[in-house]
Amino acid sequence: METAECLNHMAPYLFAQIDKKRDALIAQGADVISLGIGDPDMPTPEHIVEEMARAIRRPANHRYPDYNGSPAYRRACASYMKTRFGVELNPETEVLALIGSKEGIAHLHTAFVNPGDYVLAPSIGYPVYSGGATLQSAHTYFMPMKEEQGFLADFSNIPDDVLKRAKIMFIGYPNNPTGACATEEYFDRAIEFCLEHDILLAHDNAYCDICFDGYRAPSILERPRAFECCIEFFSLSKSYNMTGWRIAFACGNPKAIEALGTVKNNLDSGQFTAIQEAAIAALTGPQDCVREMCEIYQRRRDLVVNTLRSIGVSCTAPQATIYVWARVPEGETSESFATKLLEKTHVIVTPGNGYGPDGEGYIRISLTIDDNRLTEALERLKTLIPS
Ligand code: MLT
Repeated sequence: METAECLNHMAPYLFAQIDKKRDALIAQGADVISLGIGDPDMPTPEHIVEEMARAIRRPANHRYPDYNGSPAYRRACASYMKTRFGVELNPETEVLALIGSKEGIAHLHTAFVNPGDYVLAPSIGYPVYSGGATLQSAHTYFMPMKEEQGFLADFSNIPDDVLKRAKIMFIGYPNNPTGACATEEYFDRAIEFCLEHDILLAHDNAYCDICFDGYRAPSILERPRAFECCIEFFSLSKSYNMTGWRIAFACGNPKAIEALGTVKNNLDSGQFTAIQEAAIAALTGPQDCVREMCEIYQRRRDLVVNTLRSIGVSCTAPQATIYVWARVPEGETSESFATKLLEKTHVIVTPGNGYGPDGEGYIRISLTIDDNRLTEALERLKTLIPS
């Protein structure tokens, strides 16, 4: 049996690979601590679970959902965007329900990219940006992303032949995995660039609610002319501890929303309406749960950053996200250090090179574990750092 040619170029999904190693160690009886995938340890807030319990009992919800998301869910997404960012959206044409933002990001390629085209992805980024291109038999051009430039993906030197065939540019701030945040000026330059080169600008805003030290993460749709070329992805996964529920939305340019909707209508039948109803409770209900979560993550961030710095490991304290991005010790690569940590101390971190070429020399630590286990993991990590 011959599989599609594009699969020959497709790497196994980063976290699926890490899970395999974890499961093998656990099977041997190891006490593994995972600071790998960003999968919140705290439960979904009670009022959302309660709404789900009610919604699942409504027989009307047991039928096929609306393809683009229920009108009520799309209105709730628009209302969240208005309250949170002051962005006005038409829920009928500018909002689309997703079965998790990963799904929407992957399918965006099907809507816009032909074989041989280019996707512009940050050289440190969510693996799905380039993975989606590979599945379309398209190429990825990695935009340099350097610490000296605040991890802002640099689109100033893209060769002309790449630009001519570039269809989508992906960026995401607050950034996974570096935790970097973008300035308004950076967003404006990205919009201007994409308008000039007729490229769809896809902004991944999955971490916008997890902010620290009074920082407020913006939506790119707040910026002038954004609706002419931008689609933005929001996820309820991290904001409301709903990774397992698979619920998100895309919004922005109506043509991009329609195109993504056409791909999805032909591939899936929408998200379970009961989940959409629970998501409405999340987006429009009390937001203290989000604030409380941010306080917990901020405390964990400080614990990790202070400990790493105290043993000479260089890292920046992120103003947002659930990750700390740290340099590996001298003489190590991302892979060698992550492997050593796993094999010698049974602590999982994500090797930076798994996010693209400029991720080499870094590891990502997730803050999605309680303080005691986090402290224990850091103690184990310390044993690998030469004093
Ligand atoms: C992450 O850890 O980067 C994400 O949660 C993984 C994912 O969405 O697949």
